[in-house]
Amino acid sequence: MIIDGKKFAKALRAKIKSQILKIKKRKKLIPGLTVILVGDHPASAIYVKNKQLSAKEVGMNSSVLRFKSSISQQKLITVVKKLNKNPRVHGILIQLPLPKHINSNSVIETINPLKDVDGFHATNVGNLSIGKDSFVPCTPLGCYILLKSIKKNLSGLNALIIGRSNLNGKPMTQLLLKEDCTVTIAHSKTKNLKHLCRQAAIVIAAVGRAKLVKGDWVKRGAIVIDVGINRINFKGSSKIVGDVDFESVRKKAYAITPVPGGVGPMTIACLLNNTLKAYKNIHS
Ligand code: GUN
Repeated sequence: MIIDGKKFAKALRAKIKSQILKIKKRKKLIPGLTVILVGDHPASAIYVKNKQLSAKEVGMNSSVLRFKSSISQQKLITVVKKLNKNPRVHGILIQLPLPKHINSNSVIETINPLKDVDGFHATNVGNLSIGKDSFVPCTPLGCYILLKSIKKNLSGLNALIIGRSNLNGKPMTQLLLKEDCTVTIAHSKTKNLKHLCRQAAIVIAAVGRAKLVKGDWVKRGAIVIDVGINRINFKGSSKIVGDVDFESVRKKAYAITPVPGGVGPMTIACLLNNTLKAYKNIHS
């Protein structure tokens, strides 16, 4: 089965849109998302544009603040502090990566955790890990929704997460632990990855290595979620592929997400959902 991320994302966006329509009928202030983009990283510029278009499409207020890569950390922190105080802004997202002279954590820690729609602030990371309500980072949240759409009860299943990033691997671990999975996290120093992968009923691949996971790595009947977005050269032009070798793995997996059209669209829909949640929290 190929998991249609576009379809699930469309349904989630439609739900958000109808809730925003209801809000618009009752209130002057509507949910608002502000994205901060520093520098001219080409992939970031595309992601930010897609985030802004999607926010507009569901009827949110949306703006992008663009800065040169030479901006100082202090200036960026001042910008975030202003957004914290702005009642029209419910979600603040700082597009990563930031230039090397800026400490990302220091800037992220300045965001009011109630507006941290990326779920990267230590308060949200901590709350997620102790099982309290929190913002969950958008990519693992999208993976989680797709996974649960395939199988409701994940209790006792072996899950392998390939990649230990703060953006995906670590929060994904928390989500799967809450579902009573037995979670293994693999990373660049892990030995015998293929062997580990063969034990897993759930594989989440998020390492940024094109087509790393092959068909003979995957247990028959596994659910495979591919977070990778890798640009490769293919027959003289460039093409986007995941961390999973789709053609060989689809023959073994019970269900698999394609790239593109799998996790990607869900990530943005989850960002919009988090922004709506921030609005509700702030105004309740
Ligand atoms: N860069 C790549 N993915 C993400 C994300 O989910 N959030 C932010 N803020 N930056 C990113």
